[in-house]
Amino acid sequence: MTSILQKLLCLFSSLLFHLIPLLVFSVHVLSSASPPAVQTEVAEADSLLRWKASLDNQSQYFLSSWNTTAGRPCNWFGIQCNEAGSVSNISLTDSGLEGTLQSFSFPSFPNLVKLNLSNNSFHGNIPSHIGNLSKLKILDFSVNEISGSIPQEIGMLNSLTYIDLSDNFLTGTIPASTGNLTALPILYIQRNQLSGSLPQELGMLKFVTEIFFSENSLTGIIPISIELALSHNNLTGPIPTL
Ligand SMILES: *[C@@H]1O[C@H](CO)[C@@H](O)[C@H](O)[C@H]1NC(C)=O
Ligand SMILES: *[C@@H]1O[C@H](CO)[C@@H](O)[C@H](O)[C@H]1NC(C)=O
Ligand SMILES: *[C@@H]1O[C@H](CO)[C@@H](O)[C@H](O)[C@H]1NC(C)=O
Ligand SMILES: *[C@@H]1O[C@H](CO)[C@@H](O)[C@H](O)[C@H]1NC(C)=O
Ligand SMILES: *[C@@H]1O[C@H](CO)[C@@H](O)[C@H](O)[C@H]1NC(C)=O
Ligand SMILES: *[C@@H]1O[C@H](CO)[C@@H](O)[C@H](O)[C@H]1NC(C)=O
Ligand SMILES: *[C@@H]1O[C@H](CO)[C@@H](O)[C@H](O)[C@H]1NC(C)=O
Ligand SMILES: *[C@@H]1O[C@H](CO)[C@@H](O)[C@H](O)[C@H]1NC(C)=O
Repeated sequence: MTSILQKLLCLFSSLLFHLIPLLVFSVHVLSSASPPAVQTEVAEADSLLRWKASLDNQSQYFLSSWNTTAGRPCNWFGIQCNEAGSVSNISLTDSGLEGTLQSFSFPSFPNLVKLNLSNNSFHGNIPSHIGNLSKLKILDFSVNEISGSIPQEIGMLNSLTYIDLSDNFLTGTIPASTGNLTALPILYIQRNQLSGSLPQELGMLKFVTEIFFSENSLTGIIPISIELALSHNNLTGPIPTL
């Protein structure tokens, strides 16, 4: 009798001995290996909330739907996601938002294709990390109070089809790296305080159909291909001397 009990006990403890590591292992696996899509979503949500916290009070109030109880960022105001649930479009326009882009974590949005912050009160400069938005097609920062120079990293965004930086306080020269955006059709940078000569590299923009840089203090020679593009476009204001 006792021997059966002993055997059972022995079996049970050996079972436990094998089961405990298995349990510990599976708990560990479950907690650490959430799918990459979920990790991206959490990182994007965190980054948006951190940026929101850097904006002025009224802007934070305006973005009250940006909260974790409201679920995924895909449901938040001005945010759209792709089919995989990753943030693809950020459109926060005409909303009186006030703050800077310094706390915007560009590397956290690898799938962003559209960033439209048009007609707000964003100030400060354009961080060089904007070059991290490798899939960005549309960039619209028009009608804000953005200052400083255009970072040369803009030349890394070779998916861009539309850039509008018009009506800001941008200074300095147009970076030569803009010429790297060889497939870019549309570039609006009018009504800033840009100076210097137009970089010859702009001549590499073979597909440009609309380019506006009036009401700056630009000088110099218009690269020949741009001149052709301008000939069937509306360049107003002072044309650089030819
Ligand atoms: C912004 O909100 C915080 C906390 O609600 C408050 O302490 C601060 O005074 C507010 N600032 C302005 C400028 O309204
Ligand atoms: C969070 O967002 C939801 C959905 O927009 C909203 O109903 C709720 O009031 C928000 N919560 C806070 C604390 O702002
Ligand atoms: C995001 O913006 C792009 C470019 O404007 C557009 O083609 C696409 O439909 C938008 N995506 C969503 C989910 O709205
Ligand atoms: C800019 O946004 C304000 C609201 O903040 C709106 O009243 C105004 O009409 C907008 N301007 C343009 C040109 O859309
Ligand atoms: C960005 O938003 C403004 C204001 O709503 C709109 O007029 C403009 O067409 C948008 N830009 C792009 C590229 O969609
Ligand atoms: C992001 O941009 C910065 C500045 O251009 C660069 O140093 C960094 O390597 C980039 N990171 C990624 C992940 O692309
Ligand atoms: C962009 O352009 C600059 C200046 O023309 C050049 O030095 C650089 O190698 C180019 N490539 C990238 C990816 O920026
Ligand atoms: C150029 O201006 C004319 C007259 O103002 C207008 O009809 C035409 O649509 C404009 N073209 C472009 C490409 O904006």
